[in-house]
Amino acid sequence: MCGIVGYIGKRSAQPIILGALKRLEYRGYDSCGFAVLSNGKIEVFKERGSIDELEKALSGVNVGGTVGVGHTRWATHGEPSRRNAHPHTDCKGDIAVVHNGIIENFQHLRETLAAEGHVFRSDTDTEVVAHLVERYYNGNLEEAVRRALHEVKGSYALAILHKADEKIVAARSRSPLVLGVGDSEFFVASDVPALLEHTNRVVHLEDGDLVIITREGFRIENGGNVVPRKMETVLWSIEDAERGGYEHFMLKEIHETPRVIENTLATHLRDGVLGGVDLDLDVPQSSEILMVACGTSFHAALVGKYVIEELASVPVRVELASEFNYATTPLSRETLVVGITQSGETADTLSALKRAKAAGCATLAITNVLGSSVTRLADRIIYTRAGPEICVAATKTFTAQLITLYLLALHFSSIELAERQKMLKELRRLPTAVQRVLDAEDEIKEVSGRITSYENVFFIGRGISFPVALEGALKLKEISYIHAEGYAAGELKHGPFALLTEETPVVAVVAPDRTYDIMLNNIKEVKARKPPVIAVADEHDEEIEKYVDFVIRTSHVEPIFSAITNSVALQLLAYYAAKERGCEIDKPRNLAKSVTVE
Ligand code: AGP
Repeated sequence: MCGIVGYIGKRSAQPIILGALKRLEYRGYDSCGFAVLSNGKIEVFKERGSIDELEKALSGVNVGGTVGVGHTRWATHGEPSRRNAHPHTDCKGDIAVVHNGIIENFQHLRETLAAEGHVFRSDTDTEVVAHLVERYYNGNLEEAVRRALHEVKGSYALAILHKADEKIVAARSRSPLVLGVGDSEFFVASDVPALLEHTNRVVHLEDGDLVIITREGFRIENGGNVVPRKMETVLWSIEDAERGGYEHFMLKEIHETPRVIENTLATHLRDGVLGGVDLDLDVPQSSEILMVACGTSFHAALVGKYVIEELASVPVRVELASEFNYATTPLSRETLVVGITQSGETADTLSALKRAKAAGCATLAITNVLGSSVTRLADRIIYTRAGPEICVAATKTFTAQLITLYLLALHFSSIELAERQKMLKELRRLPTAVQRVLDAEDEIKEVSGRITSYENVFFIGRGISFPVALEGALKLKEISYIHAEGYAAGELKHGPFALLTEETPVVAVVAPDRTYDIMLNNIKEVKARKPPVIAVADEHDEEIEKYVDFVIRTSHVEPIFSAITNSVALQLLAYYAAKERGCEIDKPRNLAKSVTVE
């Protein structure tokens, strides 16, 4: 996820663009840049790092010019660096492009354009747009952009300049883009916060919209026809707008999950088959896989164990990185060691991977941050595409890790083609299934009120639902400060039953898989000790409510994917419990987003 901005009007563009970009840094902040049209030339300035660092590099210079575009980046293709920072230009520097999204067919386009003599100077997908527009430009910028976009597959919010045109051409497909209408000045941005300092009159663009913005006004086209779009007045404060109108980043990020699943799949699935850029693993077919991680990422690894062993029949061990580093676990060179870390900076996980490399193991990292430390350590990297996660509690990055582990399992699996296609079809259905869980959040909010007055809660599950229960307990613990314990459902009677009373609610994660019947037995055993029992269960489950007090229904998916939908439900459960308890939520006490100490 990145942030783009465009300005055209009577004022100097540079300070407006830089100020607007600061309001979008929550969308990405590993590098940034801007381009302004000044004296018939496009001047481009960009740096690795934050807007503040770019401003320092400018050391007070204002390049003048009243038309410009800017970008703050969350790297998806090409490590964070000045050369990969946007804006990207054509060979002659006559065209500047800023982009949020993923150009899925950029490799093919890059090869074609390079064969035509276009010289590429970055590793990004975005740069192909600048060269495509160059190929088609013959004095009419919007026409060149129209033709360029006919060749692009993927998601984009674009703002494009040409040195000969006092205009901005912007376009939107599956990435947000909004117009701002000021007093004889116009803005375009990824999100409303970038505009509110200057105007609260906005036009939300729709997929397929192409907009031509001049000093005199703007024209919106879609499918070759001029289309009217409603002008709206935004009543949010700037801070509200940064959270997209959500009260907390956590809720906003949970609601981003469907898009995150789409983006992660789009990156790794090419025309329906696996083997995109990051899944091209030529690591030796391993005799076993060892996963090392911490916290939520450890729970993702546990889900990965169930999925990979189910689909690929490769034995998988999962170790807490902090324990692994002080154990004498034998390591064979045949072991593939997978480090899962959304930040890519967790000290324990980095140390574990270093130990694995020293033992001669092949190493793979699953991370959300290009350029993070783990990407310089592991032999292979698979990137999740969750975008920046501001809330300390991991939500959408956890789901993105699960999606990546499902893809990894399919990559290593030897299942029949028909079965594989069925799994891919179900993966593609997950954004919709998750959206249905999100649409039912009011019911989850209502159930969350049933646990907020307690100080101890158990989460139980079996099979793939066991790590889901562990993660649900961690979420509740870390943001609502209720003591919650995740337990294998079959283990509760081996001691923890002693703690069960009316004062210890139990959340039972129930998937319609081979553990279903034994889970019902466990629930009956638990219920006999009087605690309130909440089940998280499939929408088609007609038995469960006979045995529990409350049911959180999640949309039906193939049981092996229930970890995705049930986890989102438990994230919402934790969120609303914490909200009712008046907790801080985005920045829980004593925690940090990235634990860079052992
Ligand atoms: C998750 O909600 C916590 N914030 C924490 O457990 C986190 O998952 C853990 O510190 C690992 O972080 P990483 O994925 O960046 O390595």
